[in-house]
Amino acid sequence: MAILVLSAPLPAAPFVAALRAAAPEVQVWTDADAPPPEAVEAILAWRLKPGQLSAYPNLRLLCSTGAGVEKLLSVPDLPPGLPVSRVVDPMQARTMAQYVIACALHFSRDLPLYAAQQARAEWRRHPVRPPERCRVGILGQGAVAQAVAAAFVPLGYSVTLWGRHAKQFAGLHSLAGAAALAQLLACSDLLVCTLPLTEATQGLLNRERLAQLPRGAVLINVGRGGHLVEDDLQDLLDEGHLAGAALDVFEREPLPAESWLWRHPKVLATPHIAGEAREAVVAEQCLEALRAVRAGRPPEWAVDREAGY
Ligand code: GLV
Repeated sequence: MAILVLSAPLPAAPFVAALRAAAPEVQVWTDADAPPPEAVEAILAWRLKPGQLSAYPNLRLLCSTGAGVEKLLSVPDLPPGLPVSRVVDPMQARTMAQYVIACALHFSRDLPLYAAQQARAEWRRHPVRPPERCRVGILGQGAVAQAVAAAFVPLGYSVTLWGRHAKQFAGLHSLAGAAALAQLLACSDLLVCTLPLTEATQGLLNRERLAQLPRGAVLINVGRGGHLVEDDLQDLLDEGHLAGAALDVFEREPLPAESWLWRHPKVLATPHIAGEAREAVVAEQCLEALRAVRAGRPPEWAVDREAGY
C-alpha cells in the first residue's frame, strides 16, 4: 500500500508518523518526497489544489484529515467514481461538545455582562434564566450533534436535533426536513450549527432564517463559515434581535484582522479550535479505508458524494 499525505495547512509529519506507527509495511510519502505518481494509491488531504489529483493515474481512495470534506469534494478533477472517506473521531465530537457548552454558558449565564460589571467594580445581581427555559436547537444529526446534545441534557436544557431525514434519538426531540426548520428556529433560544457544508446548507443561516429565532437568541457555529451569511448576522445583532454569537468557523480562515467579527461586543470569535480529529485516528481510519477499497468494499466512513458528506 502507498499513501501520499497532503495535509497542508496542517503539518504532514504527525500524520506520516501515525501512519508509519500503525502500519510500518505501508509506504508513506509527502509531496516533498516527490513519489512516483503511478505508485500512489491513496491521498490523505485536508484540501487540494485544482488539477492536483489528475497527476495520480492509479489513485483508488481519497481520505480526509477531518470530519468535513467540502474542500475535497469541490475540486474539479475529482474522478467520478473515486471513493472519498472522512474521519469520525469520538474524541473530536466530545471536545466540540465541550466548546459548545462553554459558549452556551458564557452567554446564558451572562458572563459578558458580569465581566463588564467587574471592570467597574460593580456588585449587581441579575436573575438567572433556568436551563429548562433555554431551548437548544441543534442543526445536524451526526456524531458531533449527538455529542453536543448529550452534553446539554444533564445540565437541564431541552434539546431538539434537526436534520434532512427523520431519525430517532433516545430521550431527545428531533425534527426533519426543510419544512420543519422554521419550527426548530422558532423554538431555539440557543441555536448550534454542526452541519456539513454542502450545496444545500451553504448560506443556510441568512437573515430570513436567523430572524425566525426568538428575540434574544444566541447562535453557536461549529459547522463551517459558509453556513452563515456574516453580514446578515451583524444586522440582527445590531438590531438587538440576537443577543450573541459564538463562532469558531468563518467564511475566510484565518479570519482577516480587519473583520468586524473580531471586535463586535456580542461576538465570541475563536480560530477553528473547537475540535480536531486525532492523527492516530485519522491514520487508522485511512489505512482501514484503503484495506476496504483494496478488498472491493466501501470504506466504513465513505462519503456520499451526492449528498456531500
Ligand atoms: C474540522 O473542522 C473537521 O472538519 O474535522
